[in-house]
Amino acid sequence: MRVLVIGSGYVGLVAAACFAEAGHSVLGVDVDAAKLEGLQRGEVPIFEPGLEVIFQRHLASGRLAFSTDLRTGIADADAAFICVGTPQSEDGSADLRFVLRVAQQIGAALSLRPKEAPPLIVVDKSTVPVGTAARVHGVIAATGTGRDFEVISNPEFLREGSAIEDFLKPDRVVVGCQSDFAEGVMKALYEPFLKASGGQWFRMDPTSAELTKYAANAMLALRISFINEIARLCESVGADVDYVRAAIGADHRIGSAFLNPGPGFGGSCFPKDLQALLKTGREYGHPLMSLATTVEANRHQKQVVASKIRAYYGVEGGAPAPLAGLHFALWGLAFKAHTDDIRESMSLELIDSLTALGATLTVHDFEAMPAVKAKIGGKVSYADDLIACCEGADALVIATEWPAYKAADLAAVAAKLKAKVMFDGRNLFRPEAMKSAGWTYHSIGRRSVP
Ligand SMILES: NC(=O)c1ccc[n+]([C@@H]2O[C@H](COP(=O)([O-])OP(=O)(O)OC[C@H]3O[C@@H](n4cnc5c(N)ncnc54)[C@H](O)[C@@H]3O)[C@@H](O)[C@H]2O)c1
Repeated sequence: MRVLVIGSGYVGLVAAACFAEAGHSVLGVDVDAAKLEGLQRGEVPIFEPGLEVIFQRHLASGRLAFSTDLRTGIADADAAFICVGTPQSEDGSADLRFVLRVAQQIGAALSLRPKEAPPLIVVDKSTVPVGTAARVHGVIAATGTGRDFEVISNPEFLREGSAIEDFLKPDRVVVGCQSDFAEGVMKALYEPFLKASGGQWFRMDPTSAELTKYAANAMLALRISFINEIARLCESVGADVDYVRAAIGADHRIGSAFLNPGPGFGGSCFPKDLQALLKTGREYGHPLMSLATTVEANRHQKQVVASKIRAYYGVEGGAPAPLAGLHFALWGLAFKAHTDDIRESMSLELIDSLTALGATLTVHDFEAMPAVKAKIGGKVSYADDLIACCEGADALVIATEWPAYKAADLAAVAAKLKAKVMFDGRNLFRPEAMKSAGWTYHSIGRRSVP
C-alpha cells in the first residue's frame, strides 16, 4: 500500500515509521520546512523510544520519504492520514484550523489522481470532535475535482513514551467508515499490527469513532483524578493510598491501570481533549458533569506539590517573596517519563509557582531540557546530571517518574543537598524507608515523614 502521512509530529512520525515497518511505502509531509529538512537528513526531532531505529531503517530502505508538499504523494496514494495538531481554542473546543487546511490541500491536489484511480481514503487520525469527518468531506468535495474519495475516522490511541510499541501492537484499531472498500484498505494497512498483538478490530460509523477517542481519554483522566482525590483524603484521615489502590485494583472489575496518584495530569492530549468533550456535551445539551469535576480536581491537584512546599516552609499569604533565599533541585520536566514532551507539564506550573514566591531552581530531565530551555530560558539553572542538580539545594522536588530517579543513589543526593528534604510528586519511594534513612519526606496520599 502507498500511504501519505500529513503532519510529522508525535503521531504522524510514529505512524509513518510503523507503516513503513509493516512493508508499506510511506511519504511523510509537514509544513515545517526546518523539521522536514532535518527528517530528510535523518534527524528525528522528538524523543520516542524505538523510533530512531525504525526511522533510520526505512529511510535507508527507501520505504520512508519526506516532503513539504503533499501533492508529491497524492496521485498514487491508497490512503492519506491527517495527523496535524488540534489544539484547544479559546472556548475549549478543538481548533480544526490545521485539519481543515489539510482538507483544502488534499482537495486542491486530488485532480492529480488518474480518473480511473480507486477512491482515495482520507483518514482523520488527529483527535477531532464529532462531525469532523463530514466537515473534511465537505471541504474536499467543494473543490469539485470529480475524483473519488471517502473520509473516514481512525483515532489514534498511542501513548507518548511507548508510542512505537502501542502502534505496532495495538489493543484495538477503531475505523469509522461508510464503505467496505475503505474498511478493506484500512485492514490491509493494519493487519500486520493486529496479527502481532491479537488486538481487536472495530468498524463503526465515523461519529462513533470520533467520540470513542474522547470517551477513552475522558475515562482515563477520570481514573487519575479519582485516585488523586482518594490520595488527598488518605492524607487527611491518615491512610496510605498505596494500600488502597493496590487493593481496589485487584478487583477485576476495576483493574490497577491508571490508579497512580501524582501531581495532576498534563500533556498534549488530556487537558485539551477533556475541554473539547465538555464543549461537545454543552453544544448537544448534555453537560458532562463527571468530566467537569475531573477537570476541576486536576486543576487542584496541579497545585498540590507547591502547596506542600509552601506549608513546609511556613509561607503565609501577603509577604512579597516568602521563599526568597531558598533553592530547589527539580527532577523531571516532561509531563511524564520516557518523552521529551513538555506540553501542559506540571513541572512548568511548579517552576512558575516557586519562582513567583522568590525561590530559585536547578532542574534536570533526561530528554526534556532542550524544550524547557527554548521555552523559559534562564528562568532556572540546568544540570546535566541528576546528582549535580542537587548541589546546595534546600530540598529535592520530583515531578516526573523517570525510572533512573527511583534508582538514584539517595546517599549521594543527600550529600549534595543542604538538608535531607524531599517533595516527591510521583511516590517513587516508600515513606518508611525514607524515615529510616533520616529524610524529611512528603509524597502524595501517604503520611509525611516530618
Ligand atoms: N501526541 C500524542 O500522544 C497523541 C496521541 C493520540 C492522538 N493525538 C492527536 O494527534 C494529533 C497530532 O498530535 P501530535 O502530538 O502528533 O501533534 P504535533 O504538534 O507533534 O504534530 C503536528 C504536526 O503537524 C504539522 N502540520 C500542521 N499543519 C500542517 C499542514 N497543513 N500540512 C502538513 N503538516 C502540518 C506541524 O508542523 C507538526 O509537525 C492531535 O490531534 C492529537 O490530539 C496525539
